[in-house]
Amino acid sequence: MSGIRFEDVSHDFGDERVVDHVTLELTERRVGIVGANGSGKSTLARMINGLVTPTEGRVEVDGLDVARHGREVRRRVGFVFTNADTQIVMPTVREDVAFTLRRHRLSPADAAARVERTLDRFGLADLADRPAHRLSGGQKQLLALAAVLVGEPSIVVADEPTTLLDARNARRIAEHFETLDEQLVVVSHQLELLESFDRVIVMEGGRVIADDEPRPALDAYRALIG
Ligand SMILES: Nc1ncnc2c1ncn2[C@@H]1O[C@H](COP(=O)(O)OP(=O)(O)OP(=O)(O)O)[C@@H](O)[C@H]1O
Ligand SMILES: [Mg+2]
Repeated sequence: MSGIRFEDVSHDFGDERVVDHVTLELTERRVGIVGANGSGKSTLARMINGLVTPTEGRVEVDGLDVARHGREVRRRVGFVFTNADTQIVMPTVREDVAFTLRRHRLSPADAAARVERTLDRFGLADLADRPAHRLSGGQKQLLALAAVLVGEPSIVVADEPTTLLDARNARRIAEHFETLDEQLVVVSHQLELLESFDRVIVMEGGRVIADDEPRPALDAYRALIG
């Protein structure tokens, strides 16, 4: 069974319940998650690749229990962090993108071609030899996306991937999301990014309070935070 399943999932940090009995089956190609600060979105997203383990319930990716098959799940799920600094592992931009492909068994020429294509697509070609840690915040965010997407994971989870981007780069990412074959789960406060998605989930206090097509779901969220 392909897709992501949350089966009556809860998560506690200490004695605070931050995800509260969530049951979801996500099979749509592009799913957005919105909600107020602290509503549990990142915690929920992180459970998809096992960064956070549920206190109760079970999360499955393509039928695999994430708690038991973490390594296999992480091969399928690419996770883009909000803070791109945590994701940069190599000295230069090009090396950082190439690092993702180290276990992909591509020929060096194929790997190099894929890296160059990806750098180009994300507007990073001119920065390819720069020290990755000295990029601007938005450039790092583009690099984090590029470094995940170059691996062509079957599911991409992105936690606020466009918060630091200027309008042009945010549009570039939005357009890229439209063309992705991968299943995409995006947490965002930029509601317009999610308007063309297939489904939007609204979280509040650790619970799913709306789950619908983008327009009604986003209207419900706007009414809530109004
Ligand atoms: N590692 C942690 N240890 C303790 N509490 C945590 C931890 N991570 C998150 N929390 C708490 O869990 C709750 C939900 O946090 P989460 O990061 O999932 O919210 P969010 O919806 O992503 O918010 P934001 O929109 O601000 O990113 C918050 O009250 C937060 O303080
Ligand atoms: Mg968050």
